[in-house]
Parts: sequence; C-alpha cells; structure tokens
Amino acid sequence: MRVKIANGNPGNWQPCPIPLPPTSLPPPPPKKQVLELGGGSAANLEFVISPTEWTITEPNVKFAPYFKTTVAKLRGEGCHAVVNDLVEACGEDLGRFAPASFDAVVTTFVLCTVQDPERVLSEVLRVLRPGGRLYFMEHVGGRDGTGKRQGEAGGR
Ligand SMILES: C[S@@+](CC[C@H](N)C(=O)[O-])C[C@H]1O[C@@H](n2cnc3c(N)ncnc32)[C@H](O)[C@@H]1O
Repeated sequence: MRVKIANGNPGNWQPCPIPLPPTSLPPPPPKKQVLELGGGSAANLEFVISPTEWTITEPNVKFAPYFKTTVAKLRGEGCHAVVNDLVEACGEDLGRFAPASFDAVVTTFVLCTVQDPERVLSEVLRVLRPGGRLYFMEHVGGRDGTGKRQGEAGGR
C-alpha cells in the first residue's frame, strides 16, 4: 500500500509505514447461543456482558409485555445480546429446540417453581452442546433443625 505524504506533492508517494489490516476481514465468530428458561420480564438481560444470541422461554404469556418493554429499553442502551422473540414453553418440554443447539442455559428462580425439575434438567442436557454450561440461581432451604428451616415450615 502507498500513502500520500504531508507536503501534498502528488509525486511524493511512499510505502505506508504502518501495517494495515487486509481489505477483506474474516467474518466475526458466531455469537454464543444462550437459552433462558422462565425468563419472565427478561430481567437478566441487563447483566449480559458479551455478544450472545439470547432466546427466552416463558410459559406465562402475561410476562410478554414486560419482556418487550425490557428488550426495547436495553436495545436503546446497547445491550450485548441479540434477543429473539419470546418463546412460550415450559422447561419440561423444550422439544422445539434441536439437540445440542445451545452453548449455555440460564435459569434463575425457576427450578423451585417447575412441576418436574428432573425433566427440566434432562431437557437442559439434551439442548446443551457437549461442554455447554448451565447457569442457575435458586432459593435454598435452611438445614433441618435450624431456625431458618423452622421459619420456612411456618414455625412448625
Ligand atoms: C420467580 S419467577 C423468576 C423470573 C425470572 N427468571 C427472574 O429471575 O426474574 C419464576 C418464573 O418461572 C416461570 N415458570 C413457572 N413454571 C415454569 C416451567 N414449568 N417452566 C419454565 N418456567 C416456568 C414463571 O412463569 C416465572 O416467570
């Protein structure tokens, strides 16, 4: 590559001293595919810090307006996730997703709510790619014999 030097003399073309990137850049790596179960109002999206394609399932359609509001707000704030349309589904039946189609599954405060947590986890295993990760957060019950446990049992 040749560049024009500062004195503006058209005859004064020099090889560029700085290595420039090739004109055709390789395509960016594909975004990580993330599936969130029971995403509700999409409250977790604001914590996404790397480029991902994010799919949220939620069985309760009443969350849809809140989901849309969150996504629209975060889009304006430069959210790192490309968010797909909300998918109406229970965690127990993820049949619409192909086996090994996600790099990660996220679920927060959902496993305590679902009818059949074992079935949800077997679906998670099915849709995760080999080496994929499950990130979850849950309420944890107090140990037997502790005041916390007693409180959870309604003081009995
Ligand atoms: C306590 S909320 C948590 C919402 C959201 N994950 C968050 O952390 O803000 C529990 C969510 O689980 C959803 N849920 C209930 N049963 C479910 C099931 N069988 N499969 C997937 N999600 C379910 C509810 O509709 C609700 O959105």
